[in-house]
Amino acid sequence: MTNLNNNPIGFFDSGVGGVTVFEQVKKLLPNENYIYFGDTKNMPYGEKTPEQLLVFGRDIFDFLQKKNVKAVIMACNTTSAVVYDKIKDDYPFEIYPIIQPVARHISKLPLKKVGVFATHATVNSHCYRTELKKNNPNIEVKEIACPGWVKIVENGEENTDFALASVKEKMAEMLEFSPDRIILGCTHYPYLLNVLSTLAPREVFINPSIEFAHIIKEDLASKNLLSNQDYEGSEEFYVSANPEKFQKSASLFYEIKDLPKLALN
Ligand code: DGL
Repeated sequence: MTNLNNNPIGFFDSGVGGVTVFEQVKKLLPNENYIYFGDTKNMPYGEKTPEQLLVFGRDIFDFLQKKNVKAVIMACNTTSAVVYDKIKDDYPFEIYPIIQPVARHISKLPLKKVGVFATHATVNSHCYRTELKKNNPNIEVKEIACPGWVKIVENGEENTDFALASVKEKMAEMLEFSPDRIILGCTHYPYLLNVLSTLAPREVFINPSIEFAHIIKEDLASKNLLSNQDYEGSEEFYVSANPEKFQKSASLFYEIKDLPKLALN
């Protein structure tokens, strides 16, 4: 069997959201080679139908397969909720969806009430509720869709009055439920943590990327798929539109050195 250890790890998201996951994984696994794809032409995914999301997902997986990835990280909650089950057996590499393993982890914490902020498509799928209740049927879950937050982040408008007003409105609705913790169930939302934490203590919010990165590292290690390079790996970023905007907005989480290349546009 060919040795895949130094083949790249693929990442994808609808845009800069997945960079919150990339940052965590890169920190834990600096010697891996990475290929990131942000589907900025088709975002926001949260407002798309399951049929549209499946088409986007397959195109991106085909693109990453041509790059000889050893694994693909679905750094997108929406596709993890809506597309993962439909394509998980169709590719010859490891696929890591974000929601399922992270929800399993969270469901084992001593929590009674968990809030979830996510996109429309993720909320409509109830993937978080289903996965959290699998291990802990007594846990109460409140899922709230926050359409608009993705564009705020893609446009780098986190610190505007508009962003603050939108976050305030959703937080008021969430706090009525009195959650023990609130999951940021869209990879774009950690960009809003500064604003969110003016309305509740920062520790209330769960950024799934942190636990997800540990889960990925452990699983790759158990399958003997970690890179054996003893130097920092390469990274390539691709987007389907607006590379300059992507590079600028992502910089809140990760400094991308070279301008992302255009692909699938
Ligand atoms: N960042 C993605 C997620 O985690 C998708 C956001 C969007 O494009 O609507 O769900």
